[in-house]
Amino acid sequence: MSGQGVGDRSEPSAGDGTAPGPGRIEGKVALITGAAAGIGRAIAQRFAAEGAFVVAGDIDAAGLASLAAELGEQRCVTRLCDVTVEEDVAALVRAAVDGFGRLDVAVANAGGGTAAELAEHDYASWRRVVDLCLNGAFLTVKHAGLAMRAQEGGGSIVNMASLNAVQAGRGMGAYCAAKAGVVALTEVAALELGPAGVRVNAVAPGLIRTQATSGMWHVPGVVEEYVENAPLGRFAEPEEVAAVVLFLASDEAGFVSGSVYGVDGGARTRRYPDLIGALERLSAGS
Ligand SMILES: NC(=O)c1ccc[n+]([C@@H]2O[C@H](COP(=O)([O-])OP(=O)(O)OC[C@H]3O[C@@H](n4cnc5c(N)ncnc54)[C@H](O)[C@@H]3O)[C@@H](O)[C@H]2O)c1
Repeated sequence: MSGQGVGDRSEPSAGDGTAPGPGRIEGKVALITGAAAGIGRAIAQRFAAEGAFVVAGDIDAAGLASLAAELGEQRCVTRLCDVTVEEDVAALVRAAVDGFGRLDVAVANAGGGTAAELAEHDYASWRRVVDLCLNGAFLTVKHAGLAMRAQEGGGSIVNMASLNAVQAGRGMGAYCAAKAGVVALTEVAALELGPAGVRVNAVAPGLIRTQATSGMWHVPGVVEEYVENAPLGRFAEPEEVAAVVLFLASDEAGFVSGSVYGVDGGARTRRYPDLIGALERLSAGS
């Protein structure tokens, strides 16, 4: 068991959105960072549909308000939380523990990147990417881990890595380095927190259609190159990442820890699109 849940507060939920019955993380208390949009929002929606109580953090107040309205106050509490600020992350964990009595699942999802080659990379934007992707995940692991190891039943932490943790992308140095760091962080956390019953895993998505990647659809050739290089021949939607996060969060993954799950259509077996090259061709008009 990765967690006990707060089953007495839960109501029967529609696990698959249609049939009544217990969800796959029924009654568990699950924190998600960067939950207002994209992959984080899809995780929040799926977790709620599977019977969890969602504690959603983000810097986007309007996005959080719309998520709370969508999931309902019985299922979801939201907090403004900048994952690069330790007190914000600690307060998000407290919101779960004080509000629901425990924290079963934490998803360190907030992240984002830039597009600049290393020789021209401005140090401030490099630090912002590392701060958001890697330091934010560290703070989430630290505070969620402290809460989980202090409770009976442990818990499950899922960090959002990326295909770019293992596959270089031109102009993506800060992002690739930070996401590779998230993989290393995941392994060390699994090692340190395992004895307290806390499982720690990472998910490494390929190209997923969200606000963050919307620009890729405006540069001719980039999405086509990804699709050509993915053996499954397509990009994916946020819900497909949420499904894997759900598995790792659930007791079905009770003996899975220190692992990285790719959700990339097999793209890691080939090469990442040349975004900078495509931008150069676009500006040259060819
Ligand atoms: N979309 C993809 O193709 C893809 C691929 C691999 C990995 N990822 C990773 O998945 C995660 C989610 O990406 P997405 O595509 O859904 O992005 P997104 O931009 O659509 O959503 C990110 C969310 O994080 C929030 N956020 C930004 N900075 C924050 C901060 N400092 N503190 C808290 N919240 C913050 C944003 O407000 C937004 O709601 C990121 O870690 C990203 O690196 C995405």
